[in-house]
Amino acid sequence: MNQAGSSRAAALFDLHGRVAIITGGAGLLGYQHASILAAAGAHVVLLDLAVANPQARAKQIADEFGPDALGIPCDITSESSLQDACAEILARFGRIDILINNAANNPKVEDGNMAWSRLENFPLAVWDADIRVGLTGAFLCSRIFGAEMARRKSGVIVNVASDLALIAPDQRLYRVNGLPEDQQPVKPVTYSVVKTALLGLTRYLATYWSGANIRVNAISPGGVFNGQPEVFLSRLRQLIPMDRMANQDEYQGAILFLCSDASSYMTGANLVVDGGRSCL
Ligand SMILES: NC(=O)c1ccc[n+]([C@@H]2O[C@H](COP(=O)([O-])OP(=O)(O)OC[C@H]3O[C@@H](n4cnc5c(N)ncnc54)[C@H](O)[C@@H]3O)[C@@H](O)[C@H]2O)c1
Repeated sequence: MNQAGSSRAAALFDLHGRVAIITGGAGLLGYQHASILAAAGAHVVLLDLAVANPQARAKQIADEFGPDALGIPCDITSESSLQDACAEILARFGRIDILINNAANNPKVEDGNMAWSRLENFPLAVWDADIRVGLTGAFLCSRIFGAEMARRKSGVIVNVASDLALIAPDQRLYRVNGLPEDQQPVKPVTYSVVKTALLGLTRYLATYWSGANIRVNAISPGGVFNGQPEVFLSRLRQLIPMDRMANQDEYQGAILFLCSDASSYMTGANLVVDGGRSCL
């Protein structure tokens, strides 16, 4: 390729000078998302609960990739916690360009011992907590950080949904041999509800803020390999045309695409990255 072509390719994915917020940024995938944005030149801000130590994770990213990074202990279900975080980000960097709504409750059903997860038993307190983190948190972050983007008439929001925003969970994946039917663990109802609702939030915000030059898209990842039991993996592989779960870094390309000018004509869409599972 000639030089103009390769610098055009690099410019499409370049994030130097931009400021990106990742909720749940100290977690398994949030850290991966933040790393690729930092590698592309962005200042990243990890918002996460204090117990996840977002400051230490941000320091790791700054040490590895260069651009200054910030970790803020923050509960995304609390308006005042988010407003304090917003003030701190603006004081440090003066702008907000990218928001990834990534935080969610995602209990490891495949480890068993979750009789409470059955619909008939599902505790109202868990329903409320899951909706608050996964959906209300995304709404509040979009409202507070999106308003700042709208003021500058520029921004990108990415909502992290799931293949389970498109298909129902296959509860046979989670069965534990020998347990009575009423004790068999299932994927929580809230997971499907939150992830499907995020697609609605994505479309709403995309049209609401189109005049403010804010693009809003969703990504629907499939499951990530993280040491799950072999019995679960062998059942799941049968449902995935690519015959495996994702590696932890395999959403980085899609995240960088959605957050950068490479996707400049894309809004209100859902990018499915699931090894083909939802096309079956
Ligand atoms: N891991 C997968 O296989 C997979 C597949 C598809 C989609 N997803 C989605 O990707 C996202 C990240 O998943 P993950 O596997 O990295 O999970 P994770 O549990 O490792 O990370 C979630 C992070 O969110 C944080 N968090 C929870 N409540 C919070 C709150 N109130 N305020 C601020 N932060 C809070 C947690 O501390 C944690 O660091 C989730 O939305 C999940 O549903 C994950």
